[in-house]
Amino acid sequence: TGNVVFDPGFVNTANARSAITYIDGANGILRYRGYPIEELAEKSNFVEVAYLLIYGELPTPEQYQDFEHRITTHTMVHEDLKMFFNGFPRSAHPMPVLSSAVSALSTFYADSLDPHDPQQVEISTIRLLAKVPTLAAYAYKKSVGEPMLYPHNELNYSENFLRMCFGVPAANYEVDPDMAKALDILLMLHADHEQNCSTSTVRLVGSSEANIFASVSAGVNALYGPLHGGANEAVLKMLGQIQNEGMDPDTFMEKVKNKEDGVKLMGFGHRVYKSYDPRAQIIKGYAHDILGKLGGNNEMLDIALKLEEKALADDYFVERKLYPNVDFYTGLIYKAMGFPERMFTVLFAIGRLPGWIAQWREMIEDPETKIGRPRQLYVGEGERHYPQR
Ligand code: CMC
Repeated sequence: TGNVVFDPGFVNTANARSAITYIDGANGILRYRGYPIEELAEKSNFVEVAYLLIYGELPTPEQYQDFEHRITTHTMVHEDLKMFFNGFPRSAHPMPVLSSAVSALSTFYADSLDPHDPQQVEISTIRLLAKVPTLAAYAYKKSVGEPMLYPHNELNYSENFLRMCFGVPAANYEVDPDMAKALDILLMLHADHEQNCSTSTVRLVGSSEANIFASVSAGVNALYGPLHGGANEAVLKMLGQIQNEGMDPDTFMEKVKNKEDGVKLMGFGHRVYKSYDPRAQIIKGYAHDILGKLGGNNEMLDIALKLEEKALADDYFVERKLYPNVDFYTGLIYKAMGFPERMFTVLFAIGRLPGWIAQWREMIEDPETKIGRPRQLYVGEGERHYPQR
């Protein structure tokens, strides 16, 4: 095996040089292109953050206007792509529906698949940013059996998405500005997180020179798992169970610590953060306020706060440096907005999209990129021979 290094989960392996996102896990620092996440969450918006991640600088007002205009004029999807949704059972989880629809973009926009043509990459970038919320809203509408709405280009990115999800054709839908603002902040907080599982997947698939739609679709599938983006859904299930069974948080914590049935405190722990996840800190700061405005489930928030308080004072969590991660509080807010649990990870996917695109583009432009191809330590049989029968 030569000088092959055994590193399950690539815990100690860097696969790329990247200038996009900086994380200092020991000190809970997160910056996009050098800008602290706290400043962006307070002062920027999701479309601007997408521009920053993808192009490396904050846009000038003219650049911003042009970028936003290009996105809003590409929000519709081909009518035939709408029909594609009819083939899924109504009970389908919206994440695999979304990944399938993103994968199908390669068939509808076959004119822009060349990874080495910057103009084609650019138009695919805009198409992805514009169409993924439309596809996500269609996946939602499919799951609730309501008619799909066309995008409304007068609205901003988050408002348009909320209307496509919660509006119905016959009635006007007034977007609640507090809700749209809260969603926009959550999307910003999810926009990139360097080489996490889904982003690494996007890079790995792209390293074979598969097109950007195919690569991003693979990223959506990677995000689906409960140890990654699926954690926000799992947190709400956990809080709901504790609430419904009237379970004492202490009893639940004992189960976690004893690793009973593999129970984990979902929304806690992180591969890189060994201190408080700065995104969770921001969301926690907003949670009471937003839930107050949106009329959310404060009992569940109280359970979450209690679990956090207990965990942070408990040796099991302290020794292992386990703190709340981004997923611990987001689900409560999504729920207060009216999204069912199964949509939570879809919202994460919309947020992470600019990061996937920025990282894919950085990968494809990097002369150091090689096709991703880990090695293995073979532990199977030695040579043996097919028996005479
Ligand atoms: N509850 C209880 N114990 C935990 C937890 C948890 N949430 N997370 C880690 N541990 C324990 C783990 O059992 C292990 O203990 P021991 O040393 O006794 O074997 C120790 O802490 C180290 O954990 P690990 O699994 O080796 O750490 P990792 O870096 O491989 O995994 C993780 C990171 C995020 C997958 C893990 O912490 C986890 O499963 N957390 C719950 C799921 C979750 O919230 N995921 C969201 C991640 S953040 C954003 C995102 O990607 O979506």
